[in-house]
Amino acid sequence: MRWSTEQLKKTIEKIIGDRLLIIASNREPYIHVYKEGKIEYIRPIGGAVTALDPVMKVCKGTWVAHGSSSADREVVDKKNEIKVPPENPKYTLRRIWLTKDEENGYYYGYSNKALWPLCHMAYTRPSFDDIDWAYYKIVNKKFADTILDVVKDKKAFVWIQDYHLMLLGKLLKARNKNLITAHFLHIPWPNPEAFRICPQKIDLLKGLLANDLLGFHIRYHCGNFMETVKSEMEARVDAEKTSITYGGHETLIRAFPISVDFKEISESANSKEMKGLIKKIKEEFSINDDVFTMIGLDRIDYTKGIIEKIQAVDRFFEKFPEYKRKVVFIQKGGLSRIHISKYKELNDTLNNLVEEVNWKHSTEKWYPVHLVRRHMSRKEIIALYKIADACVVSPLHDGMNLVCKEYVAAKNDLSGVLILSQFTGASRELEDAIFVNPYDKEGFALAIKKAIELPDEKKSKRMKRLRSVVRENNIYKWAGKFLEELKKI
Ligand code: F6P
Repeated sequence: MRWSTEQLKKTIEKIIGDRLLIIASNREPYIHVYKEGKIEYIRPIGGAVTALDPVMKVCKGTWVAHGSSSADREVVDKKNEIKVPPENPKYTLRRIWLTKDEENGYYYGYSNKALWPLCHMAYTRPSFDDIDWAYYKIVNKKFADTILDVVKDKKAFVWIQDYHLMLLGKLLKARNKNLITAHFLHIPWPNPEAFRICPQKIDLLKGLLANDLLGFHIRYHCGNFMETVKSEMEARVDAEKTSITYGGHETLIRAFPISVDFKEISESANSKEMKGLIKKIKEEFSINDDVFTMIGLDRIDYTKGIIEKIQAVDRFFEKFPEYKRKVVFIQKGGLSRIHISKYKELNDTLNNLVEEVNWKHSTEKWYPVHLVRRHMSRKEIIALYKIADACVVSPLHDGMNLVCKEYVAAKNDLSGVLILSQFTGASRELEDAIFVNPYDKEGFALAIKKAIELPDEKKSKRMKRLRSVVRENNIYKWAGKFLEELKKI
Protein backbone atom coordinates (compact mmCIF):
# COMPACT_ATOMS: atom_id res chain seq x y z
CA MET A 1 0.00 0.00 0.00
CA ARG A 2 1.30 3.46 -0.92
CA TRP A 3 0.59 6.17 1.64
CA SER A 4 -1.31 9.21 0.39
CA THR A 5 -3.32 12.04 1.92
CA GLU A 6 -6.42 9.81 1.67
CA GLN A 7 -4.75 6.97 3.50
CA LEU A 8 -3.50 9.30 6.22
CA LYS A 9 -6.97 10.78 6.62
CA LYS A 10 -8.42 7.32 7.22
CA THR A 11 -5.68 6.48 9.73
CA ILE A 12 -6.34 9.71 11.60
CA GLU A 13 -10.07 8.99 11.76
CA LYS A 14 -9.37 5.49 13.02
CA ILE A 15 -6.65 6.31 15.52
CA ILE A 16 -7.25 9.86 16.65
CA GLY A 17 -11.04 9.63 16.36
CA ASP A 18 -12.70 12.47 18.22
CA ARG A 19 -9.53 13.48 20.04
CA LEU A 20 -8.18 16.91 19.36
CA LEU A 21 -4.81 16.78 17.58
CA ILE A 22 -2.25 19.32 18.73
CA ILE A 23 1.22 19.83 17.33
CA ALA A 24 3.71 21.77 19.44
CA SER A 25 6.92 23.11 17.98
CA ASN A 26 9.17 26.09 18.41
CA ARG A 27 9.09 27.15 14.76
CA GLU A 28 5.75 28.11 13.24
CA PRO A 29 4.67 26.82 9.84
CA TYR A 30 3.82 30.32 8.54
CA ILE A 31 5.35 33.62 9.56
CA HIS A 32 3.94 37.06 8.82
CA VAL A 33 6.32 39.85 7.89
CA TYR A 34 6.08 43.48 6.83
CA LYS A 35 7.23 44.08 3.27
CA GLU A 36 7.09 47.59 1.88
CA GLY A 37 4.42 48.53 4.42
CA LYS A 38 2.24 45.50 3.65
CA ILE A 39 1.87 42.23 5.54
CA GLU A 40 3.02 39.11 3.71
CA TYR A 41 3.38 35.55 4.87
CA ILE A 42 6.20 33.10 4.16
CA ARG A 43 7.00 29.52 5.04
CA PRO A 44 10.20 29.33 7.07
CA ILE A 45 12.94 26.90 6.03
CA GLY A 46 13.75 23.93 8.26
CA GLY A 47 13.09 20.24 8.45
CA ALA A 48 10.24 20.05 10.96
CA VAL A 49 8.10 22.72 9.31
CA THR A 50 8.66 21.36 5.79
CA ALA A 51 7.55 17.92 6.90
CA LEU A 52 4.62 18.72 9.16
CA ASP A 53 2.69 21.32 7.20
CA PRO A 54 1.41 18.75 4.63
CA VAL A 55 0.42 16.47 7.51
CA MET A 56 -1.51 19.17 9.35
CA LYS A 57 -3.36 20.11 6.16
CA VAL A 58 -4.86 16.64 6.35
CA CYS A 59 -5.27 16.52 10.13
CA LYS A 60 -7.16 19.77 10.80
CA GLY A 61 -5.86 20.20 14.35
CA THR A 62 -4.16 23.07 16.16
CA TRP A 63 -0.46 23.83 15.79
CA VAL A 64 1.02 25.69 18.79
CA ALA A 65 4.27 27.56 18.08
CA HIS A 66 6.35 30.60 18.98
CA GLY A 67 5.12 33.66 17.07
CA SER A 68 8.55 35.00 16.20
CA SER A 69 8.04 37.32 13.29
CA SER A 70 7.47 41.07 12.92
CA ALA A 71 3.82 41.05 11.77
CA ASP A 72 2.69 37.88 13.56
CA ARG A 73 0.69 39.75 16.21
CA GLU A 74 -1.17 41.82 13.62
CA VAL A 75 -3.03 38.94 12.02
CA VAL A 76 -4.17 36.78 14.97
CA ASP A 77 -7.54 36.88 16.73
CA LYS A 78 -8.14 37.39 20.48
CA LYS A 79 -7.04 33.85 21.23
CA ASN A 80 -3.79 34.48 19.29
CA GLU A 81 -5.00 32.13 16.58
CA ILE A 82 -5.08 32.29 12.80
CA LYS A 83 -6.30 29.76 10.23
CA VAL A 84 -3.57 28.57 7.85
CA PRO A 85 -2.42 28.21 5.10
CA PRO A 86 -3.67 31.79 4.75
CA GLU A 87 -4.75 31.35 1.11
CA ASN A 88 -6.61 28.09 1.75
CA PRO A 89 -7.17 27.55 5.50
CA LYS A 90 -7.02 23.98 6.69
CA TYR A 91 -5.92 24.10 10.33
CA THR A 92 -5.39 26.49 13.25
CA LEU A 93 -2.10 28.08 14.22
CA ARG A 94 -1.97 29.28 17.84
CA ARG A 95 0.91 31.64 18.50
CA ILE A 96 2.84 31.97 21.76
CA TRP A 97 4.62 35.25 22.47
CA LEU A 98 8.03 35.33 24.13
CA THR A 99 9.92 38.25 25.60
CA LYS A 100 13.36 39.05 24.16
CA ASP A 101 14.96 37.54 27.29
CA GLU A 102 12.92 34.37 26.96
CA GLU A 103 13.77 33.98 23.28
CA ASN A 104 17.41 34.64 24.00
CA GLY A 105 17.70 32.16 26.85
CA TYR A 106 15.44 29.39 25.57
CA TYR A 107 16.00 29.48 21.78
CA TYR A 108 19.42 31.04 21.13
CA GLY A 109 20.79 29.91 24.47
CA TYR A 110 19.78 26.51 25.79
CA SER A 111 18.29 25.05 22.58
CA ASN A 112 20.96 26.20 20.17
CA LYS A 113 24.12 26.78 22.21
CA ALA A 114 23.70 23.71 24.42
CA LEU A 115 21.41 21.04 22.92
CA TRP A 116 22.09 21.55 19.21
CA PRO A 117 25.90 21.08 19.39
CA LEU A 118 25.53 18.42 22.13
CA CYS A 119 23.34 16.24 19.92
CA HIS A 120 25.12 16.86 16.61
CA MET A 121 28.67 16.19 17.79
CA ALA A 122 30.15 18.26 14.98
CA TYR A 123 33.13 19.39 17.09
CA THR A 124 31.47 22.58 18.28
CA ARG A 125 31.55 22.72 22.05
CA PRO A 126 28.14 23.04 23.75
CA SER A 127 27.79 25.73 26.38
CA PHE A 128 25.45 25.19 29.31
CA ASP A 129 24.36 28.38 30.99
CA ASP A 130 22.15 28.41 34.10
CA ILE A 131 20.15 31.43 32.97
CA ASP A 132 19.51 29.87 29.56
CA TRP A 133 18.34 26.72 31.33
CA ALA A 134 15.99 28.75 33.54
CA TYR A 135 14.43 30.33 30.43
CA TYR A 136 14.19 26.93 28.74
CA LYS A 137 12.09 25.74 31.68
CA ILE A 138 9.97 28.91 31.67
CA VAL A 139 9.20 28.64 27.95
CA ASN A 140 8.43 24.91 28.12
CA LYS A 141 5.93 25.80 30.85
CA LYS A 142 4.46 28.55 28.69
CA PHE A 143 3.86 25.96 25.96
CA ALA A 144 2.24 23.64 28.52
CA ASP A 145 -0.09 26.42 29.77
CA THR A 146 -1.14 27.30 26.22
CA ILE A 147 -1.74 23.69 25.18
CA LEU A 148 -3.82 22.99 28.29
CA ASP A 149 -5.85 26.09 27.49
CA VAL A 150 -6.47 24.79 23.94
CA VAL A 151 -7.38 21.32 25.24
CA LYS A 152 -9.61 22.42 28.16
CA ASP A 153 -11.61 19.31 29.07
CA LYS A 154 -11.45 17.68 25.64
CA LYS A 155 -9.69 14.43 24.84
CA ALA A 156 -6.48 15.22 23.02
CA PHE A 157 -3.31 13.87 21.49
CA VAL A 158 -0.32 16.18 21.72
CA TRP A 159 2.50 15.63 19.25
CA ILE A 160 5.61 17.45 20.46
CA GLN A 161 8.40 18.31 18.03
CA ASP A 162 12.11 18.56 18.53
CA TYR A 163 14.73 19.53 21.07
CA HIS A 164 13.30 22.89 22.11
CA LEU A 165 10.51 21.27 24.11
CA MET A 166 12.07 18.30 25.89
CA LEU A 167 10.34 19.09 29.18
CA LEU A 168 6.88 19.57 27.72
CA GLY A 169 5.63 15.95 27.88
CA LYS A 170 6.23 15.79 31.62
CA LEU A 171 4.69 19.20 32.28
CA LEU A 172 1.53 18.23 30.37
CA LYS A 173 1.12 14.79 31.90
CA ALA A 174 1.54 16.19 35.41
CA ARG A 175 -1.51 18.41 34.91
CA ASN A 176 -3.69 16.25 32.67
CA LYS A 177 -3.28 12.48 32.99
CA ASN A 178 -5.76 11.80 30.17
CA LEU A 179 -3.59 13.35 27.51
CA ILE A 180 -1.70 11.09 25.14
CA THR A 181 1.64 12.66 24.34
CA ALA A 182 4.29 11.71 21.83
CA HIS A 183 7.57 13.44 21.08
CA PHE A 184 9.55 13.33 17.84
CA LEU A 185 13.18 14.42 17.86
CA HIS A 186 14.26 15.86 14.49
CA ILE A 187 17.95 15.89 15.38
CA PRO A 188 20.34 13.02 16.15
CA TRP A 189 20.56 11.52 19.63
CA PRO A 190 24.25 11.23 20.59
CA ASN A 191 25.98 8.29 22.24
CA PRO A 192 25.96 8.13 26.08
CA GLU A 193 29.59 9.34 26.34
CA ALA A 194 28.70 12.54 24.49
CA PHE A 195 25.42 13.14 26.33
CA ARG A 196 26.77 12.57 29.82
CA ILE A 197 28.51 15.96 29.96
CA CYS A 198 25.13 17.76 30.03
CA PRO A 199 24.50 19.14 33.56
CA GLN A 200 20.72 19.04 33.05
CA LYS A 201 20.67 15.53 31.56
CA ILE A 202 18.42 13.89 34.16
CA ASP A 203 15.72 16.56 33.88
CA LEU A 204 15.80 16.27 30.09
CA LEU A 205 15.55 12.48 30.17
CA LYS A 206 12.70 12.59 32.69
CA GLY A 207 10.92 15.12 30.50
CA LEU A 208 11.14 12.83 27.47
CA LEU A 209 10.25 9.65 29.37
CA ALA A 210 6.92 11.09 30.47
CA ASN A 211 5.69 10.71 26.87
CA ASP A 212 3.87 7.62 25.67
CA LEU A 213 5.84 7.45 22.44
CA LEU A 214 9.26 8.79 21.59
CA GLY A 215 10.37 8.90 17.95
CA PHE A 216 13.73 9.35 16.24
CA HIS A 217 14.63 9.32 12.54
CA ILE A 218 16.71 6.15 12.60
CA ARG A 219 17.23 3.09 14.77
CA TYR A 220 20.76 4.12 15.57
CA HIS A 221 19.43 7.19 17.44
CA CYS A 222 16.88 5.01 19.29
CA GLY A 223 19.76 2.75 20.35
CA ASN A 224 21.81 5.72 21.53
CA PHE A 225 18.86 7.00 23.56
CA MET A 226 18.24 3.64 25.21
CA GLU A 227 21.93 3.29 26.06
CA THR A 228 21.90 6.81 27.49
CA VAL A 229 18.97 6.04 29.78
CA LYS A 230 20.60 2.75 30.82
CA SER A 231 23.77 4.50 31.88
CA GLU A 232 22.15 7.48 33.58
CA MET A 233 18.97 6.31 35.32
CA GLU A 234 17.30 3.56 37.27
CA ALA A 235 14.89 2.58 34.51
CA ARG A 236 13.82 -0.68 32.87
CA VAL A 237 15.15 -0.66 29.31
CA ASP A 238 13.49 -3.41 27.29
CA ALA A 239 15.52 -4.08 24.14
CA GLU A 240 12.98 -6.65 22.85
CA LYS A 241 10.01 -4.28 23.00
CA THR A 242 12.20 -1.22 22.47
CA SER A 243 10.55 0.54 25.34
CA ILE A 244 11.64 2.14 28.60
CA THR A 245 9.71 2.01 31.85
CA TYR A 246 10.50 4.75 34.30
CA GLY A 247 8.52 5.58 37.44
CA GLY A 248 5.88 2.98 36.46
CA HIS A 249 5.26 4.59 33.06
CA GLU A 250 6.21 2.93 29.78
CA THR A 251 7.50 4.90 26.79
CA LEU A 252 7.77 3.23 23.39
CA ILE A 253 10.95 4.13 21.50
CA ARG A 254 10.62 3.93 17.71
CA ALA A 255 12.32 5.00 14.50
CA PHE A 256 10.32 6.89 11.86
CA PRO A 257 12.40 8.25 8.98
CA ILE A 258 10.83 11.56 8.06
CA SER A 259 10.29 12.50 4.44
CA VAL A 260 8.68 14.93 1.99
CA ASP A 261 5.43 15.22 0.06
CA PHE A 262 6.72 13.39 -3.01
CA LYS A 263 3.56 13.85 -5.06
CA GLU A 264 3.21 17.55 -4.40
CA ILE A 265 6.87 18.26 -5.29
CA SER A 266 6.78 16.03 -8.33
CA GLU A 267 3.59 17.67 -9.63
CA SER A 268 4.93 21.12 -8.91
CA ALA A 269 8.08 20.22 -10.88
CA ASN A 270 5.82 19.37 -13.82
CA SER A 271 3.72 22.52 -13.62
CA LYS A 272 3.46 25.04 -16.44
CA GLU A 273 5.22 27.92 -14.70
CA MET A 274 8.44 25.86 -14.37
CA LYS A 275 9.57 26.67 -17.91
CA GLY A 276 9.61 30.41 -17.24
CA LEU A 277 11.23 30.03 -13.83
CA ILE A 278 13.96 27.77 -15.17
CA LYS A 279 14.74 30.28 -17.92
CA LYS A 280 14.91 33.10 -15.37
CA ILE A 281 17.22 31.22 -13.03
CA LYS A 282 19.49 30.10 -15.87
CA GLU A 283 19.84 33.72 -16.94
CA GLU A 284 20.54 34.84 -13.38
CA PHE A 285 23.50 32.45 -13.09
CA SER A 286 24.55 32.47 -16.76
CA ILE A 287 23.93 28.73 -17.11
CA ASN A 288 23.88 27.38 -20.62
CA ASP A 289 23.23 23.77 -21.59
CA ASP A 290 26.96 22.89 -21.75
CA VAL A 291 27.51 23.77 -18.12
CA PHE A 292 27.28 21.07 -15.46
CA THR A 293 25.36 22.70 -12.60
CA MET A 294 25.79 21.55 -9.02
CA ILE A 295 23.65 22.96 -6.25
CA GLY A 296 23.57 23.04 -2.45
CA LEU A 297 20.74 24.34 -0.27
CA ASP A 298 21.34 24.75 3.42
CA ARG A 299 20.66 26.89 6.41
CA ILE A 300 24.02 28.46 7.25
CA ASP A 301 24.85 26.16 10.13
CA TYR A 302 28.15 24.58 11.12
CA THR A 303 26.55 21.10 11.12
CA LYS A 304 25.70 21.40 7.42
CA GLY A 305 29.31 21.11 6.21
CA ILE A 306 29.06 24.10 3.83
CA ILE A 307 32.68 25.13 4.37
CA GLU A 308 33.83 21.57 3.73
CA LYS A 309 31.71 21.53 0.56
CA ILE A 310 33.27 24.70 -0.85
CA GLN A 311 36.73 23.42 0.07
CA ALA A 312 35.98 20.23 -1.84
CA VAL A 313 34.87 22.28 -4.86
CA ASP A 314 38.12 24.21 -4.59
CA ARG A 315 40.12 20.97 -4.45
CA PHE A 316 38.17 19.62 -7.40
CA PHE A 317 39.20 22.57 -9.59
CA GLU A 318 42.80 22.32 -8.35
CA LYS A 319 42.96 18.66 -9.30
CA PHE A 320 40.94 18.86 -12.49
CA PRO A 321 41.40 22.33 -14.02
CA GLU A 322 40.05 21.04 -17.33
CA TYR A 323 36.59 21.43 -15.79
CA LYS A 324 36.92 25.20 -15.39
CA ARG A 325 34.15 27.04 -17.26
CA LYS A 326 32.30 23.73 -17.65
CA VAL A 327 31.06 23.35 -14.06
CA VAL A 328 29.38 25.78 -11.65
CA PHE A 329 28.33 25.35 -8.07
CA ILE A 330 25.32 27.30 -6.78
CA GLN A 331 25.05 27.37 -3.00
CA LYS A 332 21.85 28.81 -1.57
CA GLY A 333 22.47 29.75 2.05
CA GLY A 334 19.72 30.95 4.35
CA LEU A 335 20.94 32.99 7.31
CA SER A 336 20.17 31.24 10.57
CA ARG A 337 20.47 31.85 14.33
CA ILE A 338 22.63 34.86 13.56
CA HIS A 339 22.63 36.16 17.17
CA ILE A 340 24.86 33.23 18.12
CA SER A 341 28.51 34.13 17.58
CA LYS A 342 29.42 30.73 16.05
CA TYR A 343 26.85 31.31 13.30
CA LYS A 344 28.01 34.86 12.68
CA GLU A 345 31.61 33.68 12.44
CA LEU A 346 30.60 30.88 10.10
CA ASN A 347 28.81 33.32 7.84
CA ASP A 348 31.91 35.53 7.66
CA THR A 349 34.17 32.54 7.04
CA LEU A 350 31.88 31.40 4.25
CA ASN A 351 31.92 34.81 2.55
CA ASN A 352 35.72 34.94 2.70
CA LEU A 353 36.15 31.39 1.48
CA VAL A 354 33.84 31.85 -1.50
CA GLU A 355 35.60 35.06 -2.41
CA GLU A 356 39.00 33.37 -2.20
CA VAL A 357 37.99 30.27 -4.20
CA ASN A 358 36.36 32.39 -6.90
CA TRP A 359 39.38 34.66 -7.14
CA LYS A 360 41.70 31.66 -7.39
CA HIS A 361 39.88 29.81 -10.17
CA SER A 362 37.93 32.45 -12.06
CA THR A 363 38.48 33.20 -15.72
CA GLU A 364 37.31 36.26 -17.61
CA LYS A 365 33.62 35.39 -17.78
CA TRP A 366 33.36 32.53 -15.36
CA TYR A 367 33.72 31.85 -11.64
CA PRO A 368 32.98 28.56 -9.90
CA VAL A 369 30.88 29.36 -6.82
CA HIS A 370 27.65 31.40 -6.72
CA LEU A 371 26.59 32.07 -3.15
CA VAL A 372 22.89 32.94 -3.25
CA ARG A 373 21.61 35.09 -0.43
CA ARG A 374 18.28 36.23 -1.81
CA HIS A 375 15.01 34.61 -0.71
CA MET A 376 13.83 32.03 -3.22
CA SER A 377 10.18 31.02 -3.38
CA ARG A 378 9.23 27.38 -3.09
CA LYS A 379 8.61 27.23 -6.86
CA GLU A 380 11.99 28.79 -7.60
CA ILE A 381 13.67 26.18 -5.43
CA ILE A 382 11.93 23.43 -7.33
CA ALA A 383 13.07 25.03 -10.59
CA LEU A 384 16.61 25.05 -9.19
CA TYR A 385 16.34 21.33 -8.41
CA LYS A 386 15.20 20.74 -11.97
CA ILE A 387 18.16 22.62 -13.40
CA ALA A 388 20.72 20.92 -11.15
CA ASP A 389 22.81 18.15 -12.70
CA ALA A 390 23.95 17.30 -9.19
CA CYS A 391 22.76 18.16 -5.70
CA VAL A 392 25.44 18.17 -3.02
CA VAL A 393 24.18 17.50 0.51
CA SER A 394 27.16 17.17 2.81
CA PRO A 395 26.35 17.71 6.52
CA LEU A 396 28.89 16.75 9.16
CA HIS A 397 25.92 15.22 10.99
CA ASP A 398 22.20 15.48 10.30
CA GLY A 399 19.19 13.71 11.82
CA MET A 400 17.66 13.10 8.39
CA ASN A 401 18.03 15.97 5.84
CA LEU A 402 15.11 16.70 3.56
CA VAL A 403 16.88 18.67 0.81
CA CYS A 404 18.16 15.44 -0.72
CA LYS A 405 14.66 13.94 -0.69
CA GLU A 406 13.13 17.06 -2.23
CA TYR A 407 15.75 17.01 -4.99
CA VAL A 408 14.93 13.41 -5.83
CA ALA A 409 11.18 14.14 -5.80
CA ALA A 410 11.65 17.02 -8.26
CA LYS A 411 13.62 14.95 -10.80
CA ASN A 412 10.73 13.66 -12.90
CA ASP A 413 12.92 13.28 -15.96
CA LEU A 414 15.33 10.99 -14.03
CA SER A 415 18.26 13.33 -14.67
CA GLY A 416 20.67 14.38 -11.94
CA VAL A 417 22.95 12.80 -9.37
CA LEU A 418 22.78 13.04 -5.61
CA ILE A 419 26.05 13.49 -3.70
CA LEU A 420 25.26 12.72 -0.08
CA SER A 421 27.10 12.74 3.22
CA GLN A 422 27.33 9.36 4.88
CA PHE A 423 26.54 11.16 8.16
CA THR A 424 22.93 12.02 7.32
CA GLY A 425 19.98 9.92 8.43
CA ALA A 426 18.89 9.93 4.77
CA SER A 427 22.00 7.98 3.75
CA ARG A 428 20.40 4.83 5.27
CA GLU A 429 17.60 4.97 2.70
CA LEU A 430 19.08 6.68 -0.36
CA GLU A 431 21.55 3.98 -1.28
CA ASP A 432 21.89 5.12 -4.90
CA ALA A 433 23.53 8.40 -3.98
CA ILE A 434 27.27 8.92 -4.39
CA PHE A 435 28.45 9.00 -0.79
CA VAL A 436 31.02 11.35 0.68
CA ASN A 437 32.73 11.85 3.97
CA PRO A 438 32.68 15.67 4.19
CA TYR A 439 35.84 15.62 6.34
CA ASP A 440 37.76 13.93 3.48
CA LYS A 441 38.51 16.69 0.98
CA GLU A 442 40.31 14.46 -1.51
CA GLY A 443 37.58 11.84 -1.53
CA PHE A 444 34.94 14.56 -1.82
CA ALA A 445 36.69 16.11 -4.86
CA LEU A 446 36.83 12.69 -6.51
CA ALA A 447 33.15 12.10 -5.79
CA ILE A 448 32.32 15.36 -7.61
CA LYS A 449 34.30 14.12 -10.61
CA LYS A 450 32.54 10.77 -10.45
CA ALA A 451 29.14 12.47 -10.41
CA ILE A 452 30.02 14.58 -13.44
CA GLU A 453 31.38 11.68 -15.43
CA LEU A 454 28.69 9.13 -14.60
CA PRO A 455 27.10 8.03 -17.90
CA ASP A 456 23.53 9.29 -18.40
CA GLU A 457 22.11 5.79 -18.42
CA LYS A 458 23.59 5.03 -15.00
CA LYS A 459 22.41 8.36 -13.66
CA SER A 460 18.83 7.69 -14.64
CA LYS A 461 18.91 4.15 -13.23
CA ARG A 462 20.12 5.49 -9.91
CA MET A 463 17.60 8.32 -9.93
CA LYS A 464 14.77 5.93 -10.73
CA ARG A 465 15.61 3.81 -7.70
CA LEU A 466 16.04 6.86 -5.49
CA ARG A 467 12.66 8.14 -6.59
CA SER A 468 10.92 4.90 -5.85
CA VAL A 469 12.33 4.97 -2.30
CA VAL A 470 11.13 8.53 -1.63
CA ARG A 471 7.78 7.92 -3.36
CA GLU A 472 7.21 4.91 -1.13
CA ASN A 473 8.60 6.35 2.14
CA ASN A 474 6.82 9.66 1.79
CA ILE A 475 5.71 12.09 4.49
CA TYR A 476 2.24 10.53 4.76
CA LYS A 477 3.80 7.19 5.54
CA TRP A 478 5.97 8.81 8.21
CA ALA A 479 2.97 10.44 9.88
CA GLY A 480 0.71 7.41 9.36
CA LYS A 481 3.21 4.97 10.85
CA PHE A 482 3.78 7.28 13.79
CA LEU A 483 0.07 7.56 14.51
CA GLU A 484 -0.50 3.83 14.01
CA GLU A 485 2.00 3.18 16.77
CA LEU A 486 -0.39 4.95 19.16
CA LYS A 487 -2.70 1.92 18.88
CA LYS A 488 -0.24 0.12 21.16
CA ILE A 489 -0.67 2.68 23.92
O1 F6P B 1 15.95 19.93 11.03
C1 F6P B 1 16.14 20.12 12.37
C2 F6P B 1 15.58 21.42 12.83
O2 F6P B 1 15.71 21.50 14.19
C3 F6P B 1 14.16 21.66 12.56
O3 F6P B 1 13.34 21.06 13.44
C4 F6P B 1 14.16 23.13 12.61
O4 F6P B 1 12.99 23.66 12.14
C5 F6P B 1 15.36 23.40 11.78
O5 F6P B 1 16.29 22.54 12.25
C6 F6P B 1 15.68 24.86 11.61
O6 F6P B 1 16.08 25.47 12.76
P1 F6P B 1 15.44 26.80 13.29
O7 F6P B 1 14.02 26.49 13.60
O8 F6P B 1 16.27 27.13 14.46
O9 F6P B 1 15.55 27.82 12.20
